[in-house]
Amino acid sequence: VVLHDPVLFNDWHPVALAAGVPVGGMAATQLLDTALLLWRDSAGTLHAWEDRCPHRGMKLSMGTLQNDTVRCAYHGWQYGASGQCKAIPALPQLKEADLKACVTSYPVQERYGLAWVCLGQPAQDPPPFPEFDDARLRKVWCGPYEVRSSGPRIVENFLDLAHLPHLHTGILGELDQSTVRDYRVESFDDPLLGQGIRAVDVRVWQPQANASATEGSDVDYTYRVLRPLTAILTKEPKAQDGCREAIALLLQPVNETLTRAWFILAMNLHDKSDDELRAFQDTIFSQDQPIVENQLPLRLPLSPQAEVSVACDRMSLAYRRYLSGLGLRYGVIEGATL
Ligand code: FES
Ligand SMILES: [Fe+2]
Repeated sequence: VVLHDPVLFNDWHPVALAAGVPVGGMAATQLLDTALLLWRDSAGTLHAWEDRCPHRGMKLSMGTLQNDTVRCAYHGWQYGASGQCKAIPALPQLKEADLKACVTSYPVQERYGLAWVCLGQPAQDPPPFPEFDDARLRKVWCGPYEVRSSGPRIVENFLDLAHLPHLHTGILGELDQSTVRDYRVESFDDPLLGQGIRAVDVRVWQPQANASATEGSDVDYTYRVLRPLTAILTKEPKAQDGCREAIALLLQPVNETLTRAWFILAMNLHDKSDDELRAFQDTIFSQDQPIVENQLPLRLPLSPQAEVSVACDRMSLAYRRYLSGLGLRYGVIEGATL
């Protein structure tokens, strides 16, 4: 297990719905093999701590939160907002200044309705998602889906075009339209969109491109990869009044081969409820999930020789080269540098 992949260690990752941690509430999760405790103080500030009491390693999330103080369930040690131990019930004579124990805390921020945590030194902000800030597009949060595979396998599946007719038959593709039309892959660096690699001029025939579609249509796609574990798909309709849509895939690497997948939809579709839109996304993802959980190895091999690729896999190959170039080690099998 690569505990300290510097790329992911020093980046932000989504770990919870921001609304899932209300004032006075605690939530436990895991990021990059590290148990996390999230809690919100009475002023509304979110805190992200290692979910581990410095005394005997007990999960603090099994304790209680009262008056902005986390109290460990095992021996009742109490920790204030800074993570500093304030009281040890077994030794009431000790003053706060005498207590050395301090819980490890991490940078945390709220963006796109999610809580983002960085275990190291954040080198940049969470990935840009300008469609989220477009007031004309409604937002729907889907997932998180708990996937028994690595983050990179999930991103690669999200970028894959040739599977659409086979896995999502009748929805995102049709078997008699399996040909993948030519598309281009390029790197980009844009003040609004950020930087990374993208696939453009992608055109796909879809029987039901979204939850409201009643007939098939050609849909123009773009995919952009912004981080090793962040990709955004946009769909532009042919018709002027058709559905515009951006789907952000935001992954929380729990460990190397267990990942929580969050989706945020930003779309100008208003005739369906959030639940209906989520149900559509749930259906699509329930078709992808058993695939990525059964691809071996679960970690994505970066060597171009490790698996057989064909011309229409060029986005997947570009993604592997992108990960190699960044020096990613977590959730992948390193190959020769390309
Ligand atoms: S393990 Fe937390 S107080 Fe002892
Ligand atoms: Fe899929």
